[in-house]
Amino acid sequence: MTEIRPDVNWVGAIDWDIRECGAYTTPHGTTYNSYLVEGEESTALVDAVKRGFADQVLYRIRKHMDPGEVDYLVCLHAEPDHAGDIGALAEATGAEVVCREKCRDALEGHLAGDLDYVSREDGETLELGERSLRVIDASMLHWPDSTFAYLEDENVLFPNDAFGQHVASSTRFADETRWVMEEATRYYAAILQMYSGLVSRKLEELGELEIDVIAPAHGTVWRPAEEAAGDGPTVGDVLEKYGQWSGSVRRDKAVVAYDTMWGSTGKMARAIAEGLMEGGYDARVYHLRSSDFTDVAAEILESRALFLGSPTINSTIYPSVGEFLTFLEGLRHGGDALAFGSYGWASAAERELSEQLREAGFDVDEGLTSRYVPADDALVAYRRLGREYAEAHRAP
Ligand code: FEO
Repeated sequence: MTEIRPDVNWVGAIDWDIRECGAYTTPHGTTYNSYLVEGEESTALVDAVKRGFADQVLYRIRKHMDPGEVDYLVCLHAEPDHAGDIGALAEATGAEVVCREKCRDALEGHLAGDLDYVSREDGETLELGERSLRVIDASMLHWPDSTFAYLEDENVLFPNDAFGQHVASSTRFADETRWVMEEATRYYAAILQMYSGLVSRKLEELGELEIDVIAPAHGTVWRPAEEAAGDGPTVGDVLEKYGQWSGSVRRDKAVVAYDTMWGSTGKMARAIAEGLMEGGYDARVYHLRSSDFTDVAAEILESRALFLGSPTINSTIYPSVGEFLTFLEGLRHGGDALAFGSYGWASAAERELSEQLREAGFDVDEGLTSRYVPADDALVAYRRLGREYAEAHRAP
């Protein structure tokens, strides 16, 4: 158990083993965070945990109090990684479940069994005595039932999935934990990027609140710089990053992602990347068949451009590139893009890639094709294209 504020304790569960969650990878495991918030008159447990993890929560609560003293289970999101064991926690504590109606709908859809519900909608509070939790509607960040809670006397925001990071660790604060901002980036890219407009509006709304601590449902807690015990990121850092990501603030950076059959499309990729670097860009090159798509998505998040390459095979795109495009379409990144690829007797991949990138919301420039192996003068032209793009698209 870790106190994150007076009478606000982390009692969550650590999942050291998980390596994927939904459609993306979690190389550093994760946590399912629960927070025990004690008031003068009653006690709330904010967020439950995945099925099979209630034992960890109950173990931590018992170090501090009898679970029967918990009055409310505040459910901010019904996805099974947060609510899978809410039934077990309700049974062990006898607590009522406090949530929005949308969350109740989702809980009833996911879970068998009866729970005792107390409804709280946007702006309403759950009184715990001298302190109260205010409910904030956060629909579509990232599910319809997503909800934030705000502990008014201590300025603590509980945003459930938002501001999360998939990191399992023995430390509880972001400033003292490895991989936190890297994982927060991957997390935003994979589950929040497509809702960036809503994130921007929610950040504006949150700007009216004083927020000292952000306590998400995955990973570590963001605390103020003046309280940091380590050199890692703080609450100000993650709020700034969310502002940049949701506002599509891009750096002088580009991703070159490709697959290749006999090496020709690979040569094109490296020539484009070389030119981007010569033009002062941070270029990242990914061979898609041997890359983690979540890593590539995280690199694209702050990139101004994507150069996507595929050879033509059987009159279409290489399978790994097609799979990546499907993943990418859902993220709605936008920005500049250019397709490229080699072919033998009939070029098809570049045209299909360009069309699909356009449908995915990118501004697509005229693509590049190479019949068989690119000649030296063609490689010079690809390098020039990369260099000229970088030189023409620099931050002022
Ligand atoms: Fe961490 Fe939307 O579940």
